[in-house]
Amino acid sequence: MDASSVLDARRRSSLSRTLLLALCTAVATATVLTYNTFLQASAPSQRIHHVPLNAETILSQCTALRETPRPPTDFFARDASDRFEPGTKSTLIKNARIWTGARNGTEIVYGDVYLDKGVVKGIGYIPDYQYTSERDVIVVDAKGGWVTPGLVDLHSHLGVSSVPELHGALDVNSGHGPIVPWLRSIDGFNTHDDAFQLAIAGGVTSVQVLPGSANAIAGQAFMFKLRKTSDHTPLSMVLEPPHTLNGSASYEHPMRWRHLKQACGESLLAYGNRMDSMWSYRWAYNEARKIKEAQDAYCAKAEAGLWDELKGQVYPESSQWEVMVDVLRGRVKVSTHCYEEVDLDSMVRLTNEFEFPIASFHHASEAWLVPNLLKRTWGGTPTVGVFAAVHRYKRESFRGSAFAPRVLADSGIPVVMKSDHPILNSRYLMYEAQQAHYWGLPPHLALLSVTAVPASAAGMSHRIGVLQEGADADVVLWDSHPLQLGATPRKVWIDGILQVGAEKDNIIVGKGKEGREFQEVPNVPNWDKEREDAVKWEGLPPLAPTQYRGRVLMRNVREVTVRDLAAEDGLKTMLAQGEPTDVVVDGGRITCVGKHCLGGVNAEIELDLRGGVIAPSLMTFGSPLGVEEIMLEPSTGDGVLFDPLHGDPPAILGDKGGLVRTADALKFGTRNALLAHRAGVTYATSSLEKTTYFASPAFIAGLSVTFRTGSAHALERGAVIKQVTALHVVLSRTSPSSSVGQVSVSTQIAVLRRLLLNGEPDDTETGYWFKRVAQGAIPLVIDVASADIMAVLLKLKIEIEQARGSFMKLVFFGATEAHLIAEEIAGAKIGVILEPARPFPQVWDDRRILAGPPLTNQTSLIALIDAGVTVAVGCRDAWQPVNTRFDVAWAALETNGRITRQKAQALVSTNLEKLLDIEGWVDEDGGDLVAYEWGNVFELTSKPVAVASPRRGLVDVL
Ligand SMILES: *[C@@H]1O[C@H](CO)[C@@H](O)[C@H](O)[C@H]1NC(C)=O
Ligand SMILES: *[C@@H]1O[C@H](CO)[C@@H](O)[C@H](O)[C@H]1NC(C)=O
Ligand SMILES: *[C@@H]1O[C@H](CO)[C@@H](O)[C@H](O)[C@H]1NC(C)=O
Repeated sequence: MDASSVLDARRRSSLSRTLLLALCTAVATATVLTYNTFLQASAPSQRIHHVPLNAETILSQCTALRETPRPPTDFFARDASDRFEPGTKSTLIKNARIWTGARNGTEIVYGDVYLDKGVVKGIGYIPDYQYTSERDVIVVDAKGGWVTPGLVDLHSHLGVSSVPELHGALDVNSGHGPIVPWLRSIDGFNTHDDAFQLAIAGGVTSVQVLPGSANAIAGQAFMFKLRKTSDHTPLSMVLEPPHTLNGSASYEHPMRWRHLKQACGESLLAYGNRMDSMWSYRWAYNEARKIKEAQDAYCAKAEAGLWDELKGQVYPESSQWEVMVDVLRGRVKVSTHCYEEVDLDSMVRLTNEFEFPIASFHHASEAWLVPNLLKRTWGGTPTVGVFAAVHRYKRESFRGSAFAPRVLADSGIPVVMKSDHPILNSRYLMYEAQQAHYWGLPPHLALLSVTAVPASAAGMSHRIGVLQEGADADVVLWDSHPLQLGATPRKVWIDGILQVGAEKDNIIVGKGKEGREFQEVPNVPNWDKEREDAVKWEGLPPLAPTQYRGRVLMRNVREVTVRDLAAEDGLKTMLAQGEPTDVVVDGGRITCVGKHCLGGVNAEIELDLRGGVIAPSLMTFGSPLGVEEIMLEPSTGDGVLFDPLHGDPPAILGDKGGLVRTADALKFGTRNALLAHRAGVTYATSSLEKTTYFASPAFIAGLSVTFRTGSAHALERGAVIKQVTALHVVLSRTSPSSSVGQVSVSTQIAVLRRLLLNGEPDDTETGYWFKRVAQGAIPLVIDVASADIMAVLLKLKIEIEQARGSFMKLVFFGATEAHLIAEEIAGAKIGVILEPARPFPQVWDDRRILAGPPLTNQTSLIALIDAGVTVAVGCRDAWQPVNTRFDVAWAALETNGRITRQKAQALVSTNLEKLLDIEGWVDEDGGDLVAYEWGNVFELTSKPVAVASPRRGLVDVL
């Protein structure tokens, strides 16, 4: 929409408001001439008053204006929850380590939790008599495992952005103007969202379902519990539905909290720029203020008995603005999506101009840079909800930082970690807290950030987010300490009803985590220096490492693993876990391992790894790393790729396929690439699959390039590993949210068949490289999710190979449903690069996922490995490579110990190299090695501190 339609929308809404008010006054209140004895007593003039028949209603309405939402005073004495489902048995969880969330997250109780009638009835020592009177009490032995409150996701679009995404259920953003406070997320809430069960499997029990951010005042939000109810309705899933929801004028007291979503900045560009959106806010709040003032004036007269002066007037109301009037009365928990200093400043000024509180700022990439500004918010400092690692995807988030949660907490600002589901899968909300902890947020605050703090920000802390007597019976029993990577719920209860982890389901959870260390809070690195730098440089600290070309001595090394093409998984552990020893690196190459190296070394620098390891660096595949700087800024990327299925490439190219090389689009030194390098991911293979966020991917997605993430430019030694790595093809369906139809899948396959059999002339890039692919000279990577399409491709491969007498190196990327035909894929010697590493049923083609524990024994990853497929793991966004080792650790831990550390390492190094046919290229000089302080590659304890690069003849100290 452009600015003029915004104006139109405004004109329309102001017109309808005028109409509405006109209608109201037309229905004149019946008044009677009454001699009111009560008024007589209080009114000295003793005259006759016109008291309206509905005076009592009006007076109670006026009294209600002063009411503020709060729980009933006897709330904690309740015997049963209003959400109790009759027939639910009581549950006693015994022998647990209970993190209650109370006392600022520092309380840990060893003992039992008793759940009865949907309510927590006891914590700690539960005497027998408390439950033996119950006929059917289910006893669960936690065996010393951790128990926490159910997780609360403060920012979610579950139900309104449901999956698999379908055109018929896009109910998250309105196209009807920047100001739409009258919309309600409950009206678009799809009770059949596949993601509910997944989120519960991650321990998430309550979420705030927000409308999207494409509107400034975007509509009313609601707190939902994710349990399926016997009523099957959205309303029955809402926690404490506001009494106004069904229009009842009279209701039980006290009043309940309402919720509203606001957004500012870039996501409102459809309606104008920042100045436009702030004016639309001021206009809207002014409308609401006029009504509030009119109500107050009216009530002042009514309460003073001045009915004569109110004659012919009705109580001023507007169904369009009523929620904003409630905002001005402090009865609404406002969630505001705002990223930058400029936006936060405008918003804080707005709160002071109109005097309303904001409960929470969301995303808020620059909030950590302006804590004092946040404290000037009218009505008190808001909670700030951030992502752990999703940064730099738009200008607004370019200065976002992993250190933000800690910096905010140090400034006394409550921190929330949130999913923005489906941006991140709500199931892994605890992973956000784990990362926040890794980057410096103290453990109790990390746990609070997904429990009590979001519950408070939503006004629900009396029920959820904290385990206390009288709270809702939403409980998670974990297989490890929840801040450990891979922490998985064994059991989850909502309202006292078991949601996952029933004995009868017979799913194994937590195997391979028997070690005591899994039950403790992980030790994490010290980031004081990096955090101070980040603040000093306002989010953009220099990222270039210090380089040493001479000798580097690494001390206290516990394990050294190197590439070895002949060994299993292409990896060999030279120095197994044992007594820490010394390693000398000279010119980027290991020259000596062992205590004896010490003598005679004139090291330029000494690094103490404190029992850490040296291991091959990791590789990332699949994102536009090195092709774009900021996802949503087309000017920072390569631009739109011509799609031969949707129009002809420029004739001057002389190639109907328009095949181009990613090497020609590379840009070095992007922040994402440098951060990947610092995270031990020194190699990347990128294609042109996702050249711009807005355009759908082209069918022929170019020839990928493999490069070094830490290099400064393309001409630097070792910067480009392999100019032409693989040929990429994307098989896509019409996007559910797109109005432009995609060429049919069958047509795409027909084109592919033609190009591979004997397609374009050899003197065109398309002709030449498709022929090379058909001959098996370079791999063909096909982005595909559906098992049905993969089956077709499998047959196509055989057809081509028979026709050409060749062996094609085929790789499926994405491959969500590959597990359904794992044996066949293995038989056809097709490789798989799974993305995401842990599956999500995003669209229809992805829907048949193997969710993993606690929902299924199997995961796609282990099913494919067991079938004998060479598997690697990829990603799609350039912010993700930084998390490679943690993502893989998660995927490996979810297999119940069936993936060893070495196999996990192979998934993001040697297996990728094998599938992309670049083993020899990476291994030429042994390949880069990364030194980790304190722990191994896949632990939260460790920190990459150096990259030894034989090809470049140097060591980067990070
Ligand atoms: C919790 O932390 C806040 C902020 O640091 C502090 O003001 C409050 O006193 C603490 N409460 C308890 C019970 O420790
Ligand atoms: C409206 O909701 C209130 C409680 O919030 C309830 O008491 C009342 O029965 C509801 N009315 C209707 C018509 O559903
Ligand atoms: C899960 O695996 C265990 C151990 O192999 C097995 O006993 C159980 O039956 C499996 N559960 C299901 C649902 O297949």
